[in-house]
Amino acid sequence: EKGGYEHFMIKEIYEQSKAVRETMSARIAKDDSAIVMDELKWNKEFLNSIRKIFIVACGTAYHAGFVGKYYIEKLARIPVEVDIASEFRYRSPIIDDRTLTIVISQSGETSDTLAALKEAKRLGSKTLAVTNVVGSSIAREADQVVYTWAGPEIAVASTKAYTTQLIMMFMLSLYMSEIKKTIEKDYTKHLIGALRQVPSQIHEILEDVEPIKTFAQKYGFNEDVFFIGRSLDYAVALEGSLKLKEISYIHAEAYAAGELKHGTLALIIEGVPVIALATQESVYEKTLSNIKEVKARDAVVIGIALANDDQIEKYVDHIIKVPTTDELLAPLLAVVPLQLLAYYAAITRGCDVDKPRNLAKSVTVE
Ligand code: F6R
Repeated sequence: EKGGYEHFMIKEIYEQSKAVRETMSARIAKDDSAIVMDELKWNKEFLNSIRKIFIVACGTAYHAGFVGKYYIEKLARIPVEVDIASEFRYRSPIIDDRTLTIVISQSGETSDTLAALKEAKRLGSKTLAVTNVVGSSIAREADQVVYTWAGPEIAVASTKAYTTQLIMMFMLSLYMSEIKKTIEKDYTKHLIGALRQVPSQIHEILEDVEPIKTFAQKYGFNEDVFFIGRSLDYAVALEGSLKLKEISYIHAEAYAAGELKHGTLALIIEGVPVIALATQESVYEKTLSNIKEVKARDAVVIGIALANDDQIEKYVDHIIKVPTTDELLAPLLAVVPLQLLAYYAAITRGCDVDKPRNLAKSVTVE
């Protein structure tokens, strides 16, 4: 059932290209001019009336929500708050009937996410579930549901669920932007064109994993690793760090690169691996200056950048490049080497990749 792969996790990493294609299929208009969400039964007046969105989830799905916030705010111009489900459900959020609560859950069974969804409904919010499992508790409880169509995810560490959730959040944002008329048609077309490239670009990354394997073998025995990035790169850093922790048991921390000097820089000493994401054009120079800061403390920097970046080599010790894309879609590509890094680091350390200690695939208790 692992289809020739050694673990479910690596199988699912490789399935991402196909999975994201499935998420998109039937949801893009033939002429690439718009996103079609036939499954959403809301009228445009309701969508136009939304003043506030909460995105609520746990773990990796929460990290997808983080990316979703950037997408919705940038494209549809609706204020978004992202919450961890176990926080949201106990913190009396301010909600009315012009609030939309989006819950994200691969399994559709996570207890805190389900409880948060019920709480949002009780307070009068409209609700939308983004999930992978048809007929799951969360799918049944929400007013509306969109499925990610990633196929079953078996490994405890979530990979293809995350990338398909990002695609879904991106498409939902474009869909809302169309209704709210917040962006130009040409820009929509450009973004949809870039979206269509993502499956083959993921495939391209997966064709040559040797350099990543080598880094994992080289640095897999370090006990601390830092991930830094700004904007969407920060969101990806959070996910890369979680992946590494949960399956390789290496202590990993993700930092918004601009926050380093507010404390964490004290931990950056000679030889500490820092994975620096630098795919975001709008904050690129700022990220470079943070990279220089950690280099000045003799950290070993592995940069993750786009293929068209011809500067970064000068500032980092090692570089992993992913295909060039629009910065909004870069998380879908940048996360893949981080998933692989976690996987090969876990293998290097002899960890049980598919069943990390103390963790369960579906967290149905609080
Ligand atoms: C991490 C991981 C967990 C889940 C979290 C939510 O790799 O898998 O953090 O993302 O438990 O699960 P779902 O999405 O099923 O609600």
